[in-house]
Amino acid sequence: MISGLHHYALEVPDLEVAEGFLQDFGLETGEKDGSLVAQCPGRVQEQVRLTQAPVKRLHHLSFTLRPGSLDSIQAALEQAGVTAIEAPAGAPESGLWVRDPDGTAVQLLHEDPVPARPVDEVLVNIGASRQRVGVRQFVKATEDVTPRRLGHALVFTPQPEKMTDFYTTVLGLRVSDTIHGLATFLNAGPGDHHIFGFLRSSHSGFHHSSFEVPSIDAIAIGADRMRSKGRDAGWGLGRHTIGSNFFHYNPDPWGSWIEWFSDIDQIDDSWVAQDWDRPPHLWGAPPPKTFLSNLEPRD
Ligand SMILES: [Fe+2]
Repeated sequence: MISGLHHYALEVPDLEVAEGFLQDFGLETGEKDGSLVAQCPGRVQEQVRLTQAPVKRLHHLSFTLRPGSLDSIQAALEQAGVTAIEAPAGAPESGLWVRDPDGTAVQLLHEDPVPARPVDEVLVNIGASRQRVGVRQFVKATEDVTPRRLGHALVFTPQPEKMTDFYTTVLGLRVSDTIHGLATFLNAGPGDHHIFGFLRSSHSGFHHSSFEVPSIDAIAIGADRMRSKGRDAGWGLGRHTIGSNFFHYNPDPWGSWIEWFSDIDQIDDSWVAQDWDRPPHLWGAPPPKTFLSNLEPRD
């Protein structure tokens, strides 16, 4: 059963442009097998893999599996009539490879994720809490602002019911919450409210990835950094409804999005999914009109 999102991979038309963008966002970049890879500072785990191609599109998704769950995953795949495939060109060959109902290549790695970079506790003087005494927060807040880990990704799909069935019944994720007719959020058990999800669209595609940063300050400082480098202002700062995390998004150079998050809802086995009819943000400006545009080509 899936334990988390390991990395995601896109085809993009210009790796140099992509590298500059990811570095401005706060990731470290390098080269592996002819692809551009990016990871979070202080964490040795590939989080993004980009290969060169004429147009931007989703290339593959990679998930980690819980220890000891490989046999039950293989049995579930067999029961669903899903056969293993070869790793697609440009992808790492390790693990088990299958295609989801939209045809996206999915890597299943029977390994634990690398722990996220350790961070200090964030002490607050909010509500009844008086935890931070004798500390200048405006200095402290700037000490650690880079991404710690890839938390989740959302993809477009024309068939969210079929995709939900595959990722839950076969791969063991659970539905956390839905936005009626639009979005489905999936969890991998106790921990983050969602590690993966879908947005209904006319065709498949990649919508956004999201990286945890240590604080709401880190989100806003990151947004300032992107603006100072001439990047599009994007969407945020805000607090989401579903998942409740603070967020800021920047559009990547090809019309999908990348997010910093902090303070996402944590869930346990007693969590009960609900169907919501709410805008995606609790407060903050509404999303740009292009936020739900799926610019990937239809096959
Ligand atoms: Fe997100």
